[in-house]
Amino acid sequence: MIEDMQEIVNYCKSRGFIYQGSDIYGGLANTWDYGPLGARLKNNIKDTWRKRFIQERKNSYEIDAAILMHPRVWEASGHVGSFSDPKFDCKNCKTRFRADNFITDLTNGEINGDTLSNEEIEQYLKEHNVKCPVCGKSDFTDVRKFNLMFETYRGSVDDEKSVVYLRPENAQGEYVNFLNVQRTTRSKLPFSIGQVGKAFRNEITPGNFTFRTIEFEQMEFQIFCKEGTDSAIYAEFKEYAKQYFIDLGLKEENLRFHNHDKLAHYAKEACDIEFKFPFGWGELNGTHNRTNFDLKRHQEYSGKAMEYFNNETNERFIPYIIESTVGADRLVLAVLCQAYEEEKIANSEEGDTRIVLHIHPALAPYKIAILPLSKKLNEKAEEIYKNLSKIFACDYDEAGSIGKRYRRQDEIGTPYCITVDFETENDNSVTIRDRDTMEQVRVTIDELENWFNKKFSF
Ligand code: GAP
Repeated sequence: MIEDMQEIVNYCKSRGFIYQGSDIYGGLANTWDYGPLGARLKNNIKDTWRKRFIQERKNSYEIDAAILMHPRVWEASGHVGSFSDPKFDCKNCKTRFRADNFITDLTNGEINGDTLSNEEIEQYLKEHNVKCPVCGKSDFTDVRKFNLMFETYRGSVDDEKSVVYLRPENAQGEYVNFLNVQRTTRSKLPFSIGQVGKAFRNEITPGNFTFRTIEFEQMEFQIFCKEGTDSAIYAEFKEYAKQYFIDLGLKEENLRFHNHDKLAHYAKEACDIEFKFPFGWGELNGTHNRTNFDLKRHQEYSGKAMEYFNNETNERFIPYIIESTVGADRLVLAVLCQAYEEEKIANSEEGDTRIVLHIHPALAPYKIAILPLSKKLNEKAEEIYKNLSKIFACDYDEAGSIGKRYRRQDEIGTPYCITVDFETENDNSVTIRDRDTMEQVRVTIDELENWFNKKFSF
């Protein structure tokens, strides 16, 4: 587990996981680009989510809805009216602060700023003569609401009628398609719709690397169910999401539930799963009992019935929704923080220390690296690469000593290295080295595909 955020930022940049966005222009603050390894890792994480939440669950369907939605969607959902955070500015240096987080941090968590009203926060700042952490002055604006949605315009005229929003959550795409999916799949309750995609929020205080950004990816899952069954499904999904994180390799002691003190406008019950990042506990997942708020509002605003018809009982009703949502970027960050180790190696010919990414094999950007011991062995090694890369993500490295090449693969989490050596031509075999144990076994080339087949499953 890594202890220092700057170390993980440097590691991500130098190995090609994550770069600063628009780097050559000095960067655009709080935007990040996934490099060759980061893109693979994130895709692998999304694949495990799809497997666990869509493929392995009966009556679960994935959709891919448009990012731009009818503006009435966001009025119905309540985002236009109330998707805001409280903020205040320092009048002297103009720094903007997110008011609730400011109080929580200032009091080291003794006061949860989230539970205070805007007036209570203003009062606290005055009574305690709080100073601006940037310029030291004590001269703040009132606490005001700041809407987090990004607005843009469609068509050629920038006016109120042409305003559209970049979606601040994926969920609404699932809600507006609830009946489309139910009818085309002929599903009975409970059934689920999931979606993986980008969301955008004009966060007041983004930061902590990819933890809080203005553009990010969510993996959201909605279970449509009958009122009365909702709380049991809510409880089940809190555990289901936690088990998913444990299966990905996050240690249980670094995970905790955090029930919401203040519920969102749509929620009856809400709980986060937090991970212990180097900067402290941070939300990875949210499980929300959203009642039938969203579908009721869409019925009201669109004028279209959003009712489910149970043809066995002849009942018609608007279902409840349990939501389980995960931030893909936060999960990438958590997995990297958890898996990164600097290890001392006892009695080894491979050197004294190594950096190793003990990542779950299903998540590893490369599953296998093929390393010819000498350039003279390239032909055989390339033939192995050509065959195995049809099935597995493979890397090929012929540069430097074999020890250095093992080190490079350890650092990026490749679970297995294949060494092609001078014996290979005689015995048609190669050496496979295990990243975690560093143990080596000899396997014939014909057996390789079978040998690896079950190693990367999730
Ligand atoms: N549909 C419900 C919803 O959007 P949320 O708790 O606001 O709920 C869901 O967001 C998940 O999205 C969070 O648990 C978090 O992992 C991720 N997330 C939210 N805001 C984010 C941001 N600014 N940057 C990166 N990830 C974010």
